[in-house]
Amino acid sequence: MGLTYDPHDPQNLIDGVPFALLARIRRDEPICPTPSGALYLSRRSDVEVVLKDVDTFHADLGPMTGLAGVEVIPADQWFLSEIPEPRHGRIRRLFNASFGPHRTRAMTEFVTVTCNGLVDDMLTKTLPDLHEDYAMPIPSLVMAEVLGLPSDISRSFMDWSFDGSLIERPASPGVVPGGPAVQAYFTEQLALQRSLSEPTNHVFSLFMETEIEGEPLSDQEIVTELHFMIQAGVHTTRGLLIHVVQRLLESAELFNSLQNDRTLIIPFVEETLRHDSPVQRVTRRCMRPTTVGGTEMKGGEWLEVGIASANRDEEAYADPEEFRLDRQDPRDHLAFGGGSHVCPGATLARMEAVIAVGVLLDRLDSMSTVEGVRYPPIPGSLSHAPVPAVLVPAGRRRESDSSP
Ligand code: HEM
Repeated sequence: MGLTYDPHDPQNLIDGVPFALLARIRRDEPICPTPSGALYLSRRSDVEVVLKDVDTFHADLGPMTGLAGVEVIPADQWFLSEIPEPRHGRIRRLFNASFGPHRTRAMTEFVTVTCNGLVDDMLTKTLPDLHEDYAMPIPSLVMAEVLGLPSDISRSFMDWSFDGSLIERPASPGVVPGGPAVQAYFTEQLALQRSLSEPTNHVFSLFMETEIEGEPLSDQEIVTELHFMIQAGVHTTRGLLIHVVQRLLESAELFNSLQNDRTLIIPFVEETLRHDSPVQRVTRRCMRPTTVGGTEMKGGEWLEVGIASANRDEEAYADPEEFRLDRQDPRDHLAFGGGSHVCPGATLARMEAVIAVGVLLDRLDSMSTVEGVRYPPIPGSLSHAPVPAVLVPAGRRRESDSSP
């Protein structure tokens, strides 16, 4: 007893997530307090119960957006995750229609061309940074393309992610009227689409044309959800991409195995999602007194739902701390959440990761770390730390092997 865990400890970005502590917590005190007074859930079975019971456990992004404990966030500023049923399901359909499998398939060529263009640019640099030059731009450029926006806005998506304004909403303290910047941008874009006789983009058109119970969505509601697409889809996918790329960088053996057997790419991406979950935890608010895993919870209690820990639960996985490409069911993890709020962007994120890895394998003979550089831990997706690499383009090794 007496264990505690702070999933927000910035030291985790430097020293790595303390997975040994999480293993002790799973064994000895599976639901333990956090320093901010929430409860951390570490076992997969408990995490699944909470993710599935959306009536008792409400998603609430208040703490993330500076609105912890604010009871009345205007309804038109609720991100999709926070909207209660049945409205949640109706609006979620629009997300599914925007990023579903057929839309994702249509993006394959764009992603391939984008990744190749970024590799071209990296090969002109003495010391490219796989984070800044590859993992970071891919999801931003993809989201700009999906929403039919000019590609240069992708730089702002990244900047807003860095400066923290991407997590704010109009009701967050200190936000200027009309802000945050991402909402000002989407307000402008929505007005532009409304001024056309036919919207030029399918996502805008879906949101503009939908009616729920006979009422169209208001401009603020549409802007809130477009904002949420960027917030939920860019930063997270960047995390997955830097994890796969850095792991390839740090293991020549892995790089060579994947290059010799491309069927390993999918299990590699899935094992990265499990072992190095880009979203380490999600927040829930307990709405009524209840019991989970033998622990009593009060109405109003905040929960940190430990996806990272659940994905390494020894009750669910053999050798959970090991990174293995031979798991029987590689997709059996909670990296994309679960229940009715499971990630609607999962197909898109997986496709980006598979292509990003495949293009590196196609275009490079090898890549290696730079001596003297301290690389961020994996998972360390929030750290924004550089990941410099020495890249050897495809064909170079063979050329030098055959030179006299
Ligand atoms: C590797 C990349 C990604 C990871 C790890 C990830 C992870 C997650 C997780 C864990 C949830 C559940 C949140 C909760 O239950 O509170 C979620 C929900 C969500 N994700 Fe993703 N996501 C990724 C990429 C994307 C992309 C590319 C998009 C959009 C283009 C997206 C949009 C969303 C949305 C809108 C929700 C809320 C769904 C709802 O509440 O019904 N995500 N994601």
